[in-house]
Amino acid sequence: ESIEKGGYEHFMLKEIFEQPRSILDSMRGRMIAESNHLMMSGIREFENKFVNAERIIIVACGTSWHAGLVAEYLIEDLARIPVEVEYASEFRYRNPIITEKDIVIAISQSGETADTLAAIELAKSKGATIFGICNVVGSSIARATDAGAYTHAGPEIGVASTKAFTAQVTVLTLIAMIIGSKRGTLETTKLHELMVELETIPSKVERALQLNDQIVEISEKYKDAPNCIYLGRGYNFPVALEGALKLKEISYIHAEGYPAAEMKHGPIALIDEHMPVIVIATKDSSYEKIVSNVQEVKARKGKVIAIVTEGDTTIPAMADHVIEIPETSEHLTPLLSVIPLQLLSYHIAVMRGCNVDQPRNLAKSVTVE
Ligand code: G6P
Repeated sequence: ESIEKGGYEHFMLKEIFEQPRSILDSMRGRMIAESNHLMMSGIREFENKFVNAERIIIVACGTSWHAGLVAEYLIEDLARIPVEVEYASEFRYRNPIITEKDIVIAISQSGETADTLAAIELAKSKGATIFGICNVVGSSIARATDAGAYTHAGPEIGVASTKAFTAQVTVLTLIAMIIGSKRGTLETTKLHELMVELETIPSKVERALQLNDQIVEISEKYKDAPNCIYLGRGYNFPVALEGALKLKEISYIHAEGYPAAEMKHGPIALIDEHMPVIVIATKDSSYEKIVSNVQEVKARKGKVIAIVTEGDTTIPAMADHVIEIPETSEHLTPLLSVIPLQLLSYHIAVMRGCNVDQPRNLAKSVTVE
């Protein structure tokens, strides 16, 4: 087993550090930015359906559902098709409205999650086209779908999903770009810019991983916190949910992820000098808004750990701790902003003596209801 861990103490840490490579693998052969070339065989088969779709429904569970939420922002923004993101377990039991014109995208690392599989069968029986995004080749979900794309992240052993998430988001970004360019909602220059930027992501993830030592220091300070709040807006809202999920899964600290603007409708009541608040505050279209959210937290003496874009000076002047990540396009931010959150949960869990790779009560793949 120690050989399989490749010198890392846990599979989770190995998988976090594999991300520059796994993200590259998930786009390999699918994109050449130089010639504005995008190709994904699974999509090509159903290109007309995707281009003419009136609605896309995404079904998934857990971390894969968070990747689905990022895709909602991407597809609506770049391809202008309405997207609904559903927990597979709710979707399958609520007599959902599904038509033959719908495209259902099922996202699953393992390809074996029972609820996601059942949601697919239901959508299929109503005539929808089902597109799968799986990591495990030949898995049940990969076989049950009409077409799909593998994430090619390699085996993920740690129960808490890390590299599968970033691979899913990468593939979903490619899909949004393909549909957007075919529908004419994403103009060629913008598409080109995005492709060039996407190519730089693996090396920027590499840089984000160099924050590891700094994150160890921050983890030391907050490892005994009983609660934690994660805030983000826009593309970083799903990342806030994912950061909170990672922390609760492996460290057993109660954590809540919230869209930062919703804080005033509840979570703000929890904030006092003992509450760590992790704010994803990168330079994007909601930056000014999140600056006010940080002020609101500080006014109530919350401890702010801010994930910011390199070179930012406004948030660092207010926050208790600052983690700087490389600048990128807003559309691609989740691929970078999630990295420090994965590391933070990992180190806190290790410091608390938790079984990081096999947390209590959780399974890597939930094949029963
Ligand atoms: C379990 C795992 C999670 C995972 C979820 C969905 O709860 O512990 O890490 O995100 O299932 O799994 P899937 O294989 O469908 O992505």
